[in-house]
Amino acid sequence: MELKRKDILSLSDLDREEIDLILQTADSFKEVSTREIKKVPALRGKTVINLFFEPSTRTRTSFELAGKRLSADVINISSTGSSTVKGESLLDTARNIEAMHSDFIIVRHASSGVPQFLAKSLQSAVINAGDGAHAHPSQGLLDLLTIKEAKGTLEGLKVVIVGDILHGRVAHSDIHGLLKYGADIHLVAPPTLIPIGIELWGVTVHYHLDEALHDADVVILLRLQLERQNTAYFPTLREYAKLYGLDRRRLSLAKEDALVMHPGPINRGVEVTSEVADGLSSVILKQVSNGIAVRMALLFLLSGGKND
Ligand code: CP
Repeated sequence: MELKRKDILSLSDLDREEIDLILQTADSFKEVSTREIKKVPALRGKTVINLFFEPSTRTRTSFELAGKRLSADVINISSTGSSTVKGESLLDTARNIEAMHSDFIIVRHASSGVPQFLAKSLQSAVINAGDGAHAHPSQGLLDLLTIKEAKGTLEGLKVVIVGDILHGRVAHSDIHGLLKYGADIHLVAPPTLIPIGIELWGVTVHYHLDEALHDADVVILLRLQLERQNTAYFPTLREYAKLYGLDRRRLSLAKEDALVMHPGPINRGVEVTSEVADGLSSVILKQVSNGIAVRMALLFLLSGGKND
């Protein structure tokens, strides 16, 4: 099977068959990262450009490692190191990169819609590495892979997503992905951080964490996107932590084998206590490891690779 699309912009664009193909391909690539020589020749001669206009540790590094483990040439460009600081437009920057014969442009930007805009103008495959509050599809995919691996299925699971749903591109991608598998999704946040009308997506909204956690199979904690909050959405971080932070007592309300997930970076003591983040239920670092396999799968499949 192959993925017949040029770009990966949002999980809302992908059907369940395409997501299954990506997850199966990622699963088969996981083994490469455990080899002594962590490399296969699948993308030899291809060029991947990481074009990041916002900070990143996990996504940028894992796209770089994914490209390198597939033997592609990978170049990293950050906003501060690019000529956009001298006034060059984003499109001109991208067109100049493409003139150097890039095959993939991985873009992260603070404005929603930038990857879609570039994808229309470029021949290179564009992968959205996070655009504003809109989407973070590779994070959504690695979350699906991590849950499926631990639970054996995505269907029918009770998944509780806690925190900044309003600005949370990870939440939006997780919801789009999980809904395609019939997960029972519960969102929890202060009313100010819940988008109006999100119930229409087919999710249940709560304002109290304890009530939502009962019988949860998975708890996904979101980072407070303070850089996207230009007004006060809640009184203090201390109050947020008290009402919405996951600690050991609250986790005991979920199923005994519930997974604790967080896309990172974590605000320890705010979204989750260290005891829970580093505890036996946490798969937070597994999410990071799975990120490489998912990004390898995306690069491989978008370059025309087949998984039979
Ligand atoms: N999860 C995530 O996007 O992390 P980074 O911001 O470090 O890439």
